[in-house]
Amino acid sequence: MLTKNIDLENKRVLVTGAAGFIGSGLTTQLLTRYKNITILGIDNMNDYYDVGIKEDRLKRIDQVSEGRFSLIRDSIANRDTVDKIFRDFRPDVVVNLAAQAGVRYSIENPDAYIESNMLGFYNILEACRHSYDEENRKDGYNGVLHLVYASSSSVYGSNKKIPYSVEDKVDNPVSLYAATKKSNELFAHAYSKLYGIPSTGLRFFTVYGPAGRPDMAYFGFTNKLVKGETIRIFNFGNCKRDFTYVDDIVEGVINVMQKSPDENENGVKYNVYNIGNNDPVNLLDFVDILQQELIAAGVLPQDYDFEAHKELVPMQPGDVEITYADVTALQQDFGFKPATDLRSGLKRFAAWYKEYYG
Ligand SMILES: NC(=O)c1ccc[n+]([C@@H]2O[C@H](COP(=O)([O-])OP(=O)(O)OC[C@H]3O[C@@H](n4cnc5c(N)ncnc54)[C@H](O)[C@@H]3O)[C@@H](O)[C@H]2O)c1
Repeated sequence: MLTKNIDLENKRVLVTGAAGFIGSGLTTQLLTRYKNITILGIDNMNDYYDVGIKEDRLKRIDQVSEGRFSLIRDSIANRDTVDKIFRDFRPDVVVNLAAQAGVRYSIENPDAYIESNMLGFYNILEACRHSYDEENRKDGYNGVLHLVYASSSSVYGSNKKIPYSVEDKVDNPVSLYAATKKSNELFAHAYSKLYGIPSTGLRFFTVYGPAGRPDMAYFGFTNKLVKGETIRIFNFGNCKRDFTYVDDIVEGVINVMQKSPDENENGVKYNVYNIGNNDPVNLLDFVDILQQELIAAGVLPQDYDFEAHKELVPMQPGDVEITYADVTALQQDFGFKPATDLRSGLKRFAAWYKEYYG
């Protein structure tokens, strides 16, 4: 196990994408756990999916914030805003979760990915770099201690070997989204080498849970089943995913935030971890448990004819058949690995859905 070297108590933390699914969960948990933490969020509140869900997540943050959280509604692609945040707030730890997410949407709207994931991340790196400038290091501020950022399991692209390990070569992205995430890792490596920014990239594997993202399959399936529409299950259901419950992701991020990497053999303070459930589930089984839990929560009626509402269809461009995380490194370094079983996680999603949509 590694020895943690950052105590988050009394720290200033910048969370980008704070109104997002993972960002809001992280912010809420940090505020709950650390009574003397101060968090600044930035989120451009874009309408890629229902902004109402983002506003609702912010309300949940407010319930625990006790004045320790504020939000800037702007884009990380806006260099002036990012620079001003770093100048005024002087973050000790930065967690970059803001991004244009989604694999399929990167076929439809590639610009959004370049703007948020490339330019936005570059702005964060530049600001981290200048946090070490002489004029910024005053009143005990030493610049950014640790930059943690979201990468994605999609960087494994068409890798044949499973489970996916951080040791694998990842030069085969099969979507623009994946290419931007891999680029983030490369950018971070270069900036860590050049300017000594300690950075850790986290490759998340299909995250689900309450207040999740409506563009993701389990949420979209639920919406369709509720409307009595037919759901389309890709690759005839022969897709296996590591479905990871959001609280497990948040727990993983909090663990990682507390350990800025030591120099590796190349003299770079840089690390990358997988965070996934390490237990791939067949899509058909997943959907079956989902509909059972939706019925149990009263989202769907007791006599719902699920068989009549599912259609098995071929693979979509950019999708990969199986994603499955090797989390050995996470376990070795932090003694942690995601553990929430699918039924418990989907039960909580169904309960939230019932409450949110009535
Ligand atoms: N959810 C998953 O299954 C999953 C899997 C792998 C990686 N990730 C990555 O994790 C991170 C968080 O994902 P999420 O599921 O919470 O997605 P999300 O879309 O719910 O959260 C991202 C948030 O960032 C904001 N945002 C987008 N572009 C921005 C910009 N330019 N400036 C400021 N804010 C911006 C959005 O409004 C949103 O609230 C993302 O980087 C995503 O790519 C997520």
